Amino acid sequence: MPGSQPEAMALPRRSFLGLAAGTAAATSALTFDSAAAAPLPKLSDPFTLGVASGDPLPNAVVLWTRLAPDPLKGGGMPARTYRVEWEVAADDKFSRVVRSGVASASPSQGHSVHVDAVGLEPGRTYWFRFRQGEHVSPVGRTRTAPSVQANPESLRWGVTSCQNWEAGYYNAHRHLAEEDLDFVAFLGDYIYEGKGNPNALRTHEGTDEPYSLTDYRNRHAQYRTDADLQAAHAAHPFICTPDDHEIDNNWADDIPQDPQNQTPEAFRKRRIAALQAYYEHMPFRRTQRPHGPDMQIYRAFRFGRLLDVPVLDTRQYRSDQISTLAEAEAPGRTITGEKQEKWLLRRLTDSPSRWNVLANQVMWAQNDRTAGPAESFDFDNMDGYRWQRRRVLEQFRQVSNPVIMTGDRHCTWACDLKTDFDHEGSEVVGAEFTGTSITSGGDADPVAFHKSYDPIMADSPHWRYIDNQRGYLIMEANRKQLTTQLRLVDTVTKRESKVRTEATFVVLDGVPGITEVDAAKA
Ligand SMILES: [Fe+2]
Repeated sequence: MPGSQPEAMALPRRSFLGLAAGTAAATSALTFDSAAAAPLPKLSDPFTLGVASGDPLPNAVVLWTRLAPDPLKGGGMPARTYRVEWEVAADDKFSRVVRSGVASASPSQGHSVHVDAVGLEPGRTYWFRFRQGEHVSPVGRTRTAPSVQANPESLRWGVTSCQNWEAGYYNAHRHLAEEDLDFVAFLGDYIYEGKGNPNALRTHEGTDEPYSLTDYRNRHAQYRTDADLQAAHAAHPFICTPDDHEIDNNWADDIPQDPQNQTPEAFRKRRIAALQAYYEHMPFRRTQRPHGPDMQIYRAFRFGRLLDVPVLDTRQYRSDQISTLAEAEAPGRTITGEKQEKWLLRRLTDSPSRWNVLANQVMWAQNDRTAGPAESFDFDNMDGYRWQRRRVLEQFRQVSNPVIMTGDRHCTWACDLKTDFDHEGSEVVGAEFTGTSITSGGDADPVAFHKSYDPIMADSPHWRYIDNQRGYLIMEANRKQLTTQLRLVDTVTKRESKVRTEATFVVLDGVPGITEVDAAKA
């Protein structure tokens, strides 16, 4: 929740571009490396990673940047704490600055800046920027949530995940930046931890997978140098949650994907480094700063009485991976941990909002991958946690319009959610929209995909629509329905692409599951 900023203080409400004389006096009470006495070295442009905002509340939003004059070499900052001015304006020319202050960027936090700009008005668009010395950052636009008592006519948001740098260009982000949205949900695989492939379209930095804090900082910084990704962050507040590749493929709590190669102590160190770098690069509140190997990631956002968005963490508390269906059914297995499950169910069943839309990583709908009577599953998703899935989905009957938005799959999978996926007539309790990927998987072959999966779809009637091309989802909720558009780019292997609406899905208020699938509506 928003709180006072111990390292920030209010400045006069006029633009800092005309503030040079007043700044020294206004900040004299702050302790920006004052003990060191020696003058701070001047920086070359430190705003190479752009700006971002996130986690919108009715009266506050997080503003983010990171000082990194040499982004792929640990950031290139002197080991000193720098002061960074920030300001929020009601207009894009900054003629009406409504909040401003000074934050510190310290070496221990990778010179990242996380300002909780409080005292804003609900449901409003704002513009923000930073200044360090003579350098002024790009301008970001952001938006606060409606007040909790408001009943907005409609809300519109983007759903994104899985942006493997090596798989292609972020054309989807370029188009996402142009959308008119209240926020963007990013559902995991913000970075990939793979070693650089010299034959890839563009190659990961470094000579190995990231393990140390510097390694993960460099990997995040490389992704964040992308102009299209910067444009999306500068256009909308993001609500982010990680999946596995922010740390290690298919990790589960304190267990890596390859325990034979990574000792518990080595993986613990890796998790500490990866979560710290993740925090440093995402627009999270400072209250979410990691403590050792732990970071408070699950949280929720209310958008008035129209929408509630619980954000899940399905990695830090999960039972380990298994390999058989019998093991997947074992009671006691959990993907959220007991405490998070209790929090989630209470949040959902107590919610006064009409739509309750979970920001989630891995698929909940059953996802058999073999046609005919034989079955095969990826147990990294909820197919490996069936006991918990059944129990939580049964509770969906008590929830107003439950919908899950999901990443991970690198495909679009629009599904009805059931308490028993094996029986066609079983009750539908909600809908799940698994939303493709920004780049992961690269340019797709839809013909080959449908040849493989259409026969399986015939055995899985809860699958309402499937596709394997790149893009993102746009969701729009009003009092009557939740409409989801599948927005696809033509290619990620060229720098430019058009975007198109490939399909539209409708969930009606009070009717669990997907009512309408329209693959022709543009
Ligand atoms: Fe992914």
